[in-house]
Amino acid sequence: MCGIVGYVGPKDATPILVEGLRRLEYRGYDSAGIAVISGGRLERRRAAGKLGNLEAVLRSTPVSGHIGIGHTRWATHGRPSEENAHPHADASRQLVVVHNGIIENYLELKERLSATGIVFETETDTEVVAHLVASYYEGSLEAATGRATKDLRGIYSLVLMHVGEPGRLVATRLGPPLVIGLGEGERFFASDVQALLAHTRRFVFVPEQTVVVIEPDAIRIVDAQGRIVPFKEETITWDPVQAEKGGYRHFMLKEIHEQPRAVRDTLLGRMSLDTGDVRLEEMGAAALEAIEKADRVQFLACGTSWHAGLIGQFFMEQLAGVPASTDYASEFRYRDPVISPGTLAVAISQSGETADTLAAMREARSRGASVLAITNVAGSQVTREADGALLTHAGPEIGVASTKAFTAQVAAIALLSIFLGRRKGALSAAAGRNLLAALARVPQLMDHALSCAALVEDMSRSLFKATDFLFLGRGVQYPIALEGALKLKEISYIHAEGYPAGEMKHGPIALIDESLPVVALIPRGRGYEKILSNVQEVKARGGRVVAIINRGDDHVRKILGKEDLFIEVPGVEVDVLGVSEIFSPFVTVIPLQLLAYHVALRAGRDVDQPRNLAKSVTVE
Ligand code: G6P
Repeated sequence: MCGIVGYVGPKDATPILVEGLRRLEYRGYDSAGIAVISGGRLERRRAAGKLGNLEAVLRSTPVSGHIGIGHTRWATHGRPSEENAHPHADASRQLVVVHNGIIENYLELKERLSATGIVFETETDTEVVAHLVASYYEGSLEAATGRATKDLRGIYSLVLMHVGEPGRLVATRLGPPLVIGLGEGERFFASDVQALLAHTRRFVFVPEQTVVVIEPDAIRIVDAQGRIVPFKEETITWDPVQAEKGGYRHFMLKEIHEQPRAVRDTLLGRMSLDTGDVRLEEMGAAALEAIEKADRVQFLACGTSWHAGLIGQFFMEQLAGVPASTDYASEFRYRDPVISPGTLAVAISQSGETADTLAAMREARSRGASVLAITNVAGSQVTREADGALLTHAGPEIGVASTKAFTAQVAAIALLSIFLGRRKGALSAAAGRNLLAALARVPQLMDHALSCAALVEDMSRSLFKATDFLFLGRGVQYPIALEGALKLKEISYIHAEGYPAGEMKHGPIALIDESLPVVALIPRGRGYEKILSNVQEVKARGGRVVAIINRGDDHVRKILGKEDLFIEVPGVEVDVLGVSEIFSPFVTVIPLQLLAYHVALRAGRDVDQPRNLAKSVTVE
């Protein structure tokens, strides 16, 4: 989604804005632009397409100044073009604005402003904001912005600059995130901390429905009634180097390889192997109380995080004995969900900013649920709205296709489920010890699973020309089949479907022929024999199988033919409650992530920034 950067201070704003936008590229965008105040004038440079195009414009018509705003646009209203790119200016070219979000009543406002003689230059909803604020301007951008927000409906994060006030930037938000970065004698705005890690680790998260003014040495935040709002400075511990590629060709590949570390860090300090229990005191007393009294769990999430929720359902029911369901956050509000008083809603979100997830979580709360957040970003909106947050420690995830955040989420949910299982008496101390010992081994097994990388790269040679793929799994492997299909679709643009293997005969079987690769997840465990029967059904119809199997599983290998492929991953056995395969998703997902990566690479796709996709989706 759109990315925002702003700077005010002693340095030249232009390179800071462009570099900040580069670090926000991963969010997804299709045009970019900056504006700076230079020699008492507003100067804008914009371009459709990637940042390289904007840089070319800046090389041919350079611009510099000590204050500026920049934007990467992910088109919603109006096609990606130079004129629709932000920043947008008012008619007198005194004021510019950048915007992330959607102004829902923009047509109504456009009509009102047009009636006063204003001529609109673009098809965007954002241009309305520039004219609206200008119409209220009487010497104070802060006051005019505050006045304009009363007319706006929708969601927005806005940063504005006025040529008459060349030492300050003004911002306001409702929905999409915005942070203030604090440097020495300089201040920044950005959509997320990643854009600014090269300059500072000190941040203030902009509260909703306030107007914020930054000057080189000052921050002022006021609420809708004009009262000063106190703010807290937070220090982000992420190492800026973690947000670099570190020798890997793409962020996605680096992040796939970082998974053992991400899972280890998420488990670290939270497992008591002696007592067979999980320590979650960090979540605070209110959250722990909500967890303990939960008699039902409702996961809410989007995209890959929704797949983590589906796995969480297995964990909650099998380990904690608590009924659990998972909803698409974007659908939850539209089915009038029935929420019983003991419901614990768990919002899962890597970014902590996904608009639909936030809305679903508010819906659950309004219907009486307690709300927890599982997120990768400390200080993000979900953490501020939930009763407690369980952080995944995956580190910054830059690749649009989520990998390490997913396995870290699964680890966090496993901890939460064991914690609840122990509280509910579903797990004895011995069972808890057993499960935690198995979890503790997971990072090492993931390391072993990564050794299939070269083989998968080689296999991609014979697979990247396929136009469709089918992914099959049973039980806890079914969400992994969905995730494997999603990864492939996202970055290779090849059509893929994930299916519960048993459902194949009710439809997808009609698709099977020699041109359709069928990726089957067959680790040992409950569904093993059954999915092998499904593999036989595929083979009987001439389908080509790519089997994900446990190391040394000769039985499956005998069933496979010469034309089939197989990838071996280590088994993750747990000797408890008859759920030996419960943690197998941690390793079976790895070859599927690598498969998507290598197929996309061979197909010549932009792996880290796939077309049309955004990393955090801050509009509904
Ligand atoms: C976007 C991203 C996905 C992500 C989903 C949910 O679609 O491209 O990778 O899974 O949003 O994001 P969240 O930050 O809430 O986990």
